[in-house]
Amino acid sequence: MAFATRQFVRAASSSAAAAAATAAAKKLIVKHVTVIGGGLMGAGIAQVAAASGHTVVLVDQSDEILKKSTKGIEESLKRVTKKKFADKPEAGADFIEKTLKNLTTSTDAVSVVHSTDLVIEAIVENQEIKNELFKRLDKFAPEHTIFASNTSSLQITQLANSTTRQDRFGGLHFFNPVPMMKLVEVIKTPMTSQKTFESLVDFSKAVGKSPVSCKDTPGFIVNRLLVPYMMEAIRLFERGDASKEDIDVAMKLGAGYPMGPFELLDYVGLDTSKYIIDGWHSLEPNNPLFAPSPLLNKLVEEKKLGKKTGEGFYKYK
Ligand code: NAI
Repeated sequence: MAFATRQFVRAASSSAAAAAATAAAKKLIVKHVTVIGGGLMGAGIAQVAAASGHTVVLVDQSDEILKKSTKGIEESLKRVTKKKFADKPEAGADFIEKTLKNLTTSTDAVSVVHSTDLVIEAIVENQEIKNELFKRLDKFAPEHTIFASNTSSLQITQLANSTTRQDRFGGLHFFNPVPMMKLVEVIKTPMTSQKTFESLVDFSKAVGKSPVSCKDTPGFIVNRLLVPYMMEAIRLFERGDASKEDIDVAMKLGAGYPMGPFELLDYVGLDTSKYIIDGWHSLEPNNPLFAPSPLLNKLVEEKKLGKKTGEGFYKYK
């Protein structure tokens, strides 16, 4: 009996190992990455992908923008290297050189996706423009290529539906600043295959991040909790229950947050927060967590968008 049990366990574990090996063999190991959009997020994503040994092409609309992106990446790499290789400046210089060797740029996405394993889109937050891009690239990218969007507020499912590769489509939501922030939310739509999902999780780990998984729900995990919290802070202030300064102090000292909600709103940009909450409100008009704020709308109308314009809830000039 004991012998039979042992044989059974051995057989079961070897078949489980074989199944795991087959699943692993099926997973796509991403080596070549195309990042579309060389702004704040895209440049950061290209940087961490190149720094972890991937071959990366960064795409944007003009050489001028790409020059700026590359300069930003070089400066960021110098900062990272100063910390990471504090005692070994030669190793640091070698790291920068190798990373930059892995990185090229292009203004023509169509001509570079033919040899890529993964396309990460980080362009302007606009459904139609993103759909149009994915639809076009779908025709030129190889069969095996996975498409991912870094969108913060749009539905991954809707983006996937602009292509014929819905099973090879997911969300890869990085955080700003990408080289510093450890989190990536990996978004699985009902159509994303398990193989695609696992490949995206593996890629996130390969670029040194800690992936978490989430369904395709508004705001995923972090923004779904963070945006209503910031909106609730504005409502508390709008009702005159507390000053914005006291709310910020309270959340820093009472909840241990590094920034208060008004400081965070100004850092993120009031236009971005308004854009997100308006989108969710149109999806779920009866959800009180997604109700618009007259004060936020007024500040955005007055172009007081936060740190980037010199004034938001606070003045920065
Ligand atoms: P950004 O405005 O800094 O950069 C966007 C870049 O995309 C620009 O350089 C623009 O020239 C380029 N672009 C626009 N249309 C293009 C096209 N058709 N082809 C090629 N390039 C094109 O924007 P940011 O902040 O980097 O955001 C990009 C995406 O990442 C958005 O979907 C945003 O929701 C998402 N995101 C933003 C975060 C943030 O904190 N800013 C955080 C997480 C996600």
